[in-house]
Amino acid sequence: MGGAAVKWRLTLTEPEIGQEEIEAVTRVLQSKWLTMGAVVADFEQAFARKMQVRHAIAVNNCTAALHLAYVAAGVGPGDEVIVPDLTFVATASAARHTGAEVLLADVVSEHDLTVDPRSVESLITARTKAICVVHYAGFLCDMESILKLASHRGIMVIEDAAHAPFASKSLGGETKFAGAIGDIGCFSFFGNKNMTTGEGGMLTTNSDELAARMRLLRSHGMTTLTYERHKGHASGYDVLEPGFNYRMDEMHAAFGLAQLAKVDRMNERRREVTAWYREALVDNPRVVVPFLDRPLSESTCHIMPVLVDSPQEVRDRLKEAGVQTSKHYEPISWFTAYQGAASRTKEIADRLVTLPLGPSMTEEDVQLVAGLL
Ligand SMILES: Cc1ncc(COP(=O)(O)O)c(C=O)c1O
Repeated sequence: MGGAAVKWRLTLTEPEIGQEEIEAVTRVLQSKWLTMGAVVADFEQAFARKMQVRHAIAVNNCTAALHLAYVAAGVGPGDEVIVPDLTFVATASAARHTGAEVLLADVVSEHDLTVDPRSVESLITARTKAICVVHYAGFLCDMESILKLASHRGIMVIEDAAHAPFASKSLGGETKFAGAIGDIGCFSFFGNKNMTTGEGGMLTTNSDELAARMRLLRSHGMTTLTYERHKGHASGYDVLEPGFNYRMDEMHAAFGLAQLAKVDRMNERRREVTAWYREALVDNPRVVVPFLDRPLSESTCHIMPVLVDSPQEVRDRLKEAGVQTSKHYEPISWFTAYQGAASRTKEIADRLVTLPLGPSMTEEDVQLVAGLL
């Protein structure tokens, strides 16, 4: 990469990995059954149970999950998919890989960085096949409005829940989890996520039909898997349609099971850290803290975005003090490969800085960052 590595006093985020993960992965290695076996099945079942959905399908990352979701939703050439302008590029690129066109929707406001249902509505055409929402920073989108827009038009709703594993909200008197509200949920277990497996992802759905198609496509479109043949339950296979290799292996699933057991506690810690930030920054006239009117109990507090007038100056200043920052995100419309700017998003993204946030941060860490701001 070149250049000396910066020695951070406070990094943007850090995963919490203990002896449980090390032992779980070691047990898999010692078993010598390395992929698509009982541990992946256990991880899927445990995730589905906790998420209160009928199906969870483990994959090798969230980008693969998104691609499978779009394909299973029937998205293809000639179709349009609406995604937020303010998201990681994978939300859009996975749709583009189906041959569909991507339209970019605006955020609600500087106080709510989730996608604005009114902007989504303005982009709907006869060719709209799917809407993919992102529960930005771990705060749920206005799913009631999005579902209302989609349901009577026969549009699929995909939830990119990469930021929001086990964020929940009461909808219609029932507690619902992010990723279990629309047709398909997509999760990321990348190294910086609320629960991690290094690389990894999960699909969730209550539809038996969508689940069957995504399972099939995850592993080459094959009707039986190596493990079933190993167990003597099958001896051959057919290929029903050309698929992909988007499988998760047993080591990652073991890692994921250990993380799943502590994700609620880690999310709770993130809420605590976010509450300290809110308290320290709420009266700072130079900083806008988004989502202040949303209860933290409904969020997974994945990242800590704030808006400032001179973001580069702020980032340089924090870097000098050894504090790592980031930006979530450069809007998709900013990239050469995409067009169709959502104007409000651009103006807001120009002021975004992401502050450090992780389950191991202390109140002193937050005071240090707030002091610099
Ligand atoms: C909102 C969002 N969508 C999709 C992804 C892609 O996830 P993965 O790296 O697991 O493919 C990420 C990861 O950074 C993300 O933040």
